[in-house]
This record gives sequence, C-alpha cells and structure tokens, in this order.
Amino acid sequence: MTSRRPLILAHGGAGSRRVTPAQSACLADALAAGYGILAQGDPALAAVECTINLLEQSGLFNAGRGANRQLDGVQRMDAAIMEGARLKAGAVASIEGIAHPITVARLVMEETDHVLLVGPFARKFARHFTLDQHRVTGKPRRLSYGRILAKQKRSRTKRHGTVGAVALDRSGTVAAGASTGGIESMLPGRVGDSPLIGSGVYADNHSGAVSMTGIGEGIIRLVIAKSICDHLAMGKSPAVAARQVLRILTSRIHGTAGALVLSPDGRFAIRHVTPHMAAGWWNGTGQPIVQGEFS
Ligand code: GLY
Repeated sequence: MTSRRPLILAHGGAGSRRVTPAQSACLADALAAGYGILAQGDPALAAVECTINLLEQSGLFNAGRGANRQLDGVQRMDAAIMEGARLKAGAVASIEGIAHPITVARLVMEETDHVLLVGPFARKFARHFTLDQHRVTGKPRRLSYGRILAKQKRSRTKRHGTVGAVALDRSGTVAAGASTGGIESMLPGRVGDSPLIGSGVYADNHSGAVSMTGIGEGIIRLVIAKSICDHLAMGKSPAVAARQVLRILTSRIHGTAGALVLSPDGRFAIRHVTPHMAAGWWNGTGQPIVQGEFS
C-alpha cells in the first residue's frame, strides 16, 4: 500500500452562465468536506459521495433539490459513482423524489450485483434504505404528449449544470461520480450521460478518473469519460487527454461539455468547451480553489 497526497476535484456544471458567489462558496465547502474525508484516510468513493451530497442538497445546482423539471413538470434525476480499484460502479436513472441520487447509486454498487436501476424501481430501492425523501413542490403539468413533443422541438435553450467529483485517496485509488437533473426542455423519460458508466463517469486505477458535465447526447455518442481514460492509459497527460477528446466532441458533433480529469499519480485537468465551468479542486494546502473558467 502506498501513501499519497490526497486530492479532490468538483464541478457544478459547464455552460453559458457564470458561476455565482453562492455557487463558488458551496463548491469550496463541498471540496473541503470531501478533502476532510480523504485526509482521515477514508476512501475516494466516500469523498466523492460526500462532496456530491452537499452540492445536491444546496439547491444551487441542477441536481438533487435544484434538479430541472422534465416537460411534464416532474423532476427525474440521474447519478452514477465508480471506484478504480475493483472497477465497481452503481447508477440510477430517472429517479423521482429522492434527495441524494448519488447515495442511491452507491447503494446499487454496494448492495446489489447490478450497475443501473431506473425509474420507480430505483425509488423503491432507495426507500427500502429509508433514504431522505425530496419534497416535490408544484404539480405535474397536464399537457398532451403532442404538446410536450412540440415544446421540446421548439426549444432553443439547453441549459444544464450537472454536479460531479473525482478524488484520489491515500491508498492510490481513484473514484468518480456525477448527479444531475438533466437538461432544459427534456422529454419525460429522457436520460443523459451521467448515469451511463463510460459516458458521464469512469474510474480505473490503471488510467484515471473522469466526471463529465454538458449536453449528455453528445457525451454519450462519444463515450467521453472512458475515451479520456483510454488516452490517459496511453500515457497522455490529463490536460492533453481532455483537450484531444473534447476537440473530437466539438469538431465531429458540435457537442458541449466540461470534464474533470484526474490521473492516479495526482496530475489533473479541468477543461471545458463552453464559455464557463463552475469547478474547483483542493489538495489540503491553502484554501480550495474555485473558478468559473479554466483554460
Ligand atoms: N450531462 C447531463 C445530462 O445531459 O443529462
């Protein structure tokens, strides 16, 4: 067992909006809490879950309490978590009424032989573990399916703002997670990249850990998180791996995304092909660094 300097990175989404002071403060607090777990010698997986829990409960990001609504007025959330020692992963998609989808994803990983649970079955699973319920305000919209479909087609905006984290613990294990309320103007039942292992998150001690944010449709088609890890495994630095894969996303399919990339030797990069990305990192020295743009 080696002892390394632990490190955590977190994001609160990438897009056209600037990070607000409240979001910056929340990200810094979440990084500090996650780092505290790593500093105690606890696993990267626990640090990723704790950091994302705080972002979910803040209501300041598009995840947990702050999740977007689908076009029928219902919040349906996606989340995934993965650890790099045994390549274990868990995820939930289209889950309703649960405060912390990332915790349900971790339970899927630890309490079942499965990777992904969806919809009402994911909620039933979460309730079995008596996880916090999320009070849903507002009523579902009573629109015909034709009107929902027309609204989706007319929509020009695709605001998003997934939260996520990657971490490296003292034993050299990496972990990654993401949690989201999806994008604006989604059809009911739409699922993005966040709960799809290899698209929105990936973690492997032989390559690194990645957590994505952005428009899931493009991220899914290029399996971005695993692609970046494959570049790391070929010996590329996190910055080069992220830049090369994100360049393919923009040039081939005009996608938009941001990535947290961490290699098991502690090198990392935060890269985005959007005007802004709310993100930060901390390795225990000074204060957590949070910015709204990374070059
Ligand atoms: N990246 C979040 C989503 O597309 O749902």
